[in-house]
Amino acid sequence: PIRPAILAGGAGSRLWPLSTAARPKHLLPLFGADSLFEQTLRRFGDRFAPPIVVANRAQEADLRAIVGPGSRIILEPLKRDSAAAIALAASLAEEDELLLVCPSDHHIGDIEAFHRAIALARPAAEAGKIVTFGIEPSHPATGFGYIAAGKGDGVRPVARFIEKPDEEKAAAMLRQGGHYWNAGIFLALAGTWREELRRHAPAILEAAREALERGDCESPVIRVDEQAFARSPAKSIDYAVMEHSDRVAVVPVSMGWSDVGSWDAVFDASPKGDGGNVVVGDALVIDSHANLIRSDGPKVVAIGVDDLVIIATADAVLVTSLSHTQRVREAAEWSENDA
Ligand code: GDD
Ligand code: MG
Repeated sequence: PIRPAILAGGAGSRLWPLSTAARPKHLLPLFGADSLFEQTLRRFGDRFAPPIVVANRAQEADLRAIVGPGSRIILEPLKRDSAAAIALAASLAEEDELLLVCPSDHHIGDIEAFHRAIALARPAAEAGKIVTFGIEPSHPATGFGYIAAGKGDGVRPVARFIEKPDEEKAAAMLRQGGHYWNAGIFLALAGTWREELRRHAPAILEAAREALERGDCESPVIRVDEQAFARSPAKSIDYAVMEHSDRVAVVPVSMGWSDVGSWDAVFDASPKGDGGNVVVGDALVIDSHANLIRSDGPKVVAIGVDDLVIIATADAVLVTSLSHTQRVREAAEWSENDA
């Protein structure tokens, strides 16, 4: 069976004040009672082997409480971005094991479509490809990777992978057509990951291997060696491998995917109640429309307001318009400097 390699190292600062250093994005229950990480695990069901989770060691207790038997947790002593995290997972796995690298902090609305896409990708991955999953772009976003797909049905060849283009380049790709957003989910053999890392980012693979060798690889929870891991360059897999590899393929998929990077994306992916509002927690909403209102503590009342985001926790309150949620990062920085 395919083995998920779940990356859980992000922060999610645009989801302040719910996300904090102690409780990063993947541990937030944004849709229902379960965290995004729990939903990620559940999405696999029993069709997959127990996952390898790669996360920062600060989250050891939280993650141990969530993962099931047979799972492995690799704990990183410091942040070295996603290429190093994937290098760890690929070095731990058997060479002929299929790894589904996936983020722990995304939302997928259509789980059956997700599984169909993985089944479609499988033969190409077994033949040595790194298969990406392509999302139809809706606007010239600058925070995603773009995949230029060749002709074909099902699994398509990839001519070029462009990580986080500026808006002008993104708009040009949209006009041209045939480009998809990279969902950040990749299916490949562990051996393929190792070969491509060796080829395009040897220092990252080397540091990860050494860090793992000097850790305790037999136990379910592996603490990698700090000194060795610190030698890894900090690069995302997109810049380190995807932009350079000639073994990339893509399966376009429509699966209600969202990276839920900011509050407007949480609003979009949530079912709407009366007046088109999304209301979570103890809130009274009167004559108000299309707001995202969430309280994890205090009572919140909204009267006669539209298109707002109101997030209240025990410690902080955020009020912004749905069109300004990208700038919430500034609030997180301000709040952290203040502490
Ligand atoms: N374990 C670990 N350690 N995981 C990490 C680390 C790290 O140091 N850094 C990032 N990750 C994990 C994050 O938790 C997330 O699940 C995944 O790797 C991607 O990292 P992000 O930092 O969220 O990347 P991004 O959103 O800027 O861009 C990526 O995702 C987009 C889709 O959401 C790229 O792959 C883009 O091409 C893609 O479009
Ligand atoms: Mg992300």
